[in-house]
Amino acid sequence: MPIRRLPDQLVNQIAAGEVVERPASALKELVENAIDAGATRIAIELEAGGVDHLSVVDDGCGMDAAELRLAVERHATSKLPDGDLSAIATLGFRGEALPSIASVARLTLASRTAAREGWALAIDHGRIVADGPAALPPGTRATVDGLFAQVPARRKFLKSERAELAACLDVVRRLAMATPHVAFDLRHGGRRLLGAEHAPDLPARLAALLGRDFTDNAVAIDLDREELRLGGLAGVPTFNRGVADHQFLFVNGRPVRDRLLVGAVRGAYQDLLARDRHPVVALFLDVPADFVDVNVHPAKTEVRFRDAGLVRGMIVSGLRRALDAAGHRASTTIAAGALAAFVAEPMAWSAPAPSMAGMPFPTGAAGQGHLADTASAWLAPAVRSEAPAAANAYPLGVARAQVAGTYIVAETTDGMILVDQHAAHERLTLEKLKAAAAGRGVASQLLLLPQVVELDAASAAHLVEAAPDFAALGLELEGFGPAAVLVRATPAALGACDATALVRDLADDLAAFDRGMALGERLDAVAATMACHASVRAGRLLSVPEMNALLREMEVTPHSGQCNHGRPTWVRLARTDLEKLFGRR
Ligand SMILES: Nc1ncnc2c1ncn2[C@@H]1O[C@H](COP(=O)(O)OP(=O)(O)O)[C@@H](O)[C@H]1O
Ligand SMILES: [Mg+2]
Repeated sequence: MPIRRLPDQLVNQIAAGEVVERPASALKELVENAIDAGATRIAIELEAGGVDHLSVVDDGCGMDAAELRLAVERHATSKLPDGDLSAIATLGFRGEALPSIASVARLTLASRTAAREGWALAIDHGRIVADGPAALPPGTRATVDGLFAQVPARRKFLKSERAELAACLDVVRRLAMATPHVAFDLRHGGRRLLGAEHAPDLPARLAALLGRDFTDNAVAIDLDREELRLGGLAGVPTFNRGVADHQFLFVNGRPVRDRLLVGAVRGAYQDLLARDRHPVVALFLDVPADFVDVNVHPAKTEVRFRDAGLVRGMIVSGLRRALDAAGHRASTTIAAGALAAFVAEPMAWSAPAPSMAGMPFPTGAAGQGHLADTASAWLAPAVRSEAPAAANAYPLGVARAQVAGTYIVAETTDGMILVDQHAAHERLTLEKLKAAAAGRGVASQLLLLPQVVELDAASAAHLVEAAPDFAALGLELEGFGPAAVLVRATPAALGACDATALVRDLADDLAAFDRGMALGERLDAVAATMACHASVRAGRLLSVPEMNALLREMEVTPHSGQCNHGRPTWVRLARTDLEKLFGRR
């Protein structure tokens, strides 16, 4: 076959294959153009998930007739300063989005600059079908109709209207997060699905887009290293999600989905969350333009860093430092949820109170008397005699009682706290292991009889290879034939534990580890697994001094607000919450 140059329309369709995968990717390019044009307001309208119709209206700098014609040409851009790919300060720079979109749909661009009359240009699958004056306010309106209408091979890969719409919303939400100074309005079938007014700063914009729930349960990140800066918000571990979709990462204001960044976030939360739970974060990394290559992928959603190790280290330590400082803080949302549960379940003994329609609690004298009786029977006299004033001194209060052999009830200055003693103890064990490992090794406890644990050959080999790491945490094991290990000692902090179960879990850990995972992260994960095997304290009766000792230890231990699986170790009921429960407010 002879070699020939491909016609423009075909070249554009080939480029569209990478740039315009679905309505959301066309929308992303158009909104990026509006932001690059200096818009302060961007209005988006979608029909049928953006497949039938999408339009983006901005009040940016606009284009005149000559610029419009250039804009839809291949590799025509106003954005590459001096042709220097290492100095990109705009979202666009490849000059191929508009011609690509125009090759697989009908694209109409109507635009007006401050100085000239308005103009409109329409291109239908590569052919100019309209080119003439138009009346509109300064700015640009870009409209895409019938995406892939004449490209059945692409159209059949589109997902449901709902899925396409969700992808469009995700794209706009991410772009809006990084541009608080721009107001956004997105409608689908006339219904407003996303709106964000001009925000004074990033936290305000994040609150508007992700909800106060997130901003109330997040810590601020702020770290400078060399010429790099990391800012944003990171959710406390108890504010976690079942999917990783709630991680918003930006490099120089550009939303990216970068494996390195995602891995660094996972590393930072590593021992604070179960493997199937994910933190919520919005992180903004600002680096010199020549530190990052954004020209890695046509959709510009991936980046490459000059020094990936520096970036990774910065994210891990920036997040860890902020989470450490948050100390024993747990998610307020979960406490609110617990309170809602209290409210939702009317107690079995409560007499109906017809006069208080809609209020599930007895507020009459009879109800209160009953509760008082129950309470006095419930609290041992020794507990009640402890000086109430002492509650002032401690953030987690003074222990008053234990419930179900599992929960500690503590009184604080402004209410009460319930502590899950098992979860808390597990967390304290982990922090103890980690602190000791960081110092001079952990005390181990020799087994009276070394224990043989049978495994498969690969697991045994992995365990033996990692034996020095385990030893640093107080677990001593060695190879025992091809498919078994011999355990000689276990970490003293675990108390009496089942060495076989522990070693099997550690073998699973080793199999699951990323190869890219840093040694420190692997050790943290191993320590977390070990802490799970700590002598179980749920169901154990604790004396008041024991309970108080646990509370005091939690207060001075980092991350004691959540267990190793990201569940809270304690919840608070403020006095005002208690008053609400009893209809006093
Ligand atoms: N909404 C807009 N307002 C003003 N100018 C625009 C707009 N959209 C596109 N342009 C102009 O058209 C050019 C080509 O756009 P595009 O194909 O997306 O490539 P790129 O954004 O990579 O430059 C841009 O460089 C810009 O000059
Ligand atoms: Mg562009």
